[in-house]
Amino acid sequence: MTSDGPLVLGIETSCDETGVGIVRGQTLLADAVASSVEEHARFGGVVPEVASRAHLEAMVPTLERAAETAGVRLDDVDAVAVTSGPGLAGALLVGVAAAKALAIGLGKPLYGVNHLAAHVAVDQLEHGPLPEPVLAMLVSGGHSSLLKVTDVTTGVDPMGSTIDDAAGEAFDKVARLLGLPFPGGPHIDRVAREGDSVAIDFPRGLTSRRDLERHRFDFSFSGLKTAVARWVEARERSGEPVPVADVAASFQEAVCDVLVRKAVDAAVTEGIEDILIGGGVAANSRLRALAETRAADHGIRVRVPRPGLCTDNGAMVAALGAELVTRGRPPSRLDLPADSSQPITQVVA
Ligand code: KG4
Ligand code: ZN
Repeated sequence: MTSDGPLVLGIETSCDETGVGIVRGQTLLADAVASSVEEHARFGGVVPEVASRAHLEAMVPTLERAAETAGVRLDDVDAVAVTSGPGLAGALLVGVAAAKALAIGLGKPLYGVNHLAAHVAVDQLEHGPLPEPVLAMLVSGGHSSLLKVTDVTTGVDPMGSTIDDAAGEAFDKVARLLGLPFPGGPHIDRVAREGDSVAIDFPRGLTSRRDLERHRFDFSFSGLKTAVARWVEARERSGEPVPVADVAASFQEAVCDVLVRKAVDAAVTEGIEDILIGGGVAANSRLRALAETRAADHGIRVRVPRPGLCTDNGAMVAALGAELVTRGRPPSRLDLPADSSQPITQVVA
């Protein structure tokens, strides 16, 4: 270990990205990612068994690529970190088995980390030390969560999450019914720029006074998805053309409005002055703009890592691993399970 922090290798396989990242403390040295997204495209969603097999094939080449980019030998690393949950069980298993083999072979400590906490820790690679507490909003194809993070290595408290579809899933489903390719988020984002975001008044899930009593910080996107489908069907039945840009812009506005409203409310309620947005949907241009404007009204700062660090990757796991080493947290046992039901608060498995 040098004065610049520990050299940590991180492995991520919770969904369809095989990620291997290498960091020294808070400095990113390599972030190699192999995605199987194209193999899932024709199914309109990630197929677990296909993802697991793709991880198995991509693991060794991705490891080699990361070490080469970082200019380090695997022997040099101080610790190995791996996502142990939550995620697809079979996919996690591939990463956890690879990380254990490396840790045993190299004689280095193993850190099993929580995927959501890693999405938070990654911001250090871009913006330096994490403000703590920070209110994290993680939005991707697999998650939509609001987390209160007091210590990214030990204290990650879920405040709310989706009760049905994830935000990215809603983008993907609506894109599909508008005839846009998978994954649909970037396409909706692009098409929406030409549309009118107030053209159609789509519902904002879980924002009525009654819903707020039980679900103040939770999300629901399946009603919105159904509302968009009904609206498009009615148009098609009447023989009129579907104004794709207006539908995309109005749908995107409904999602972003609810996400930002609840994230700001959570931060204000907890007296937290920083909001961090992560996950693939954080790349959405409207979400970033709306979050910055509304947070500023409350004196709250917004941090969003660059898109490559927001989507699933190995660097985020390495970043959290380095933080665990730096803060003197104990490593995991070598019989670490890959556990898709791992609770958010269990940062070290
Ligand atoms: O984090 P990620 O790469 O993978 C997981 O789902 O874990 O996130 C992918 C999701 C997809 O649903 C994709 O449609 C969405 O992020 N996404 C976006 C944008 N870019 C990616 N959604 C909205 N706007 C975007 N620009
Ligand atoms: Zn993720």
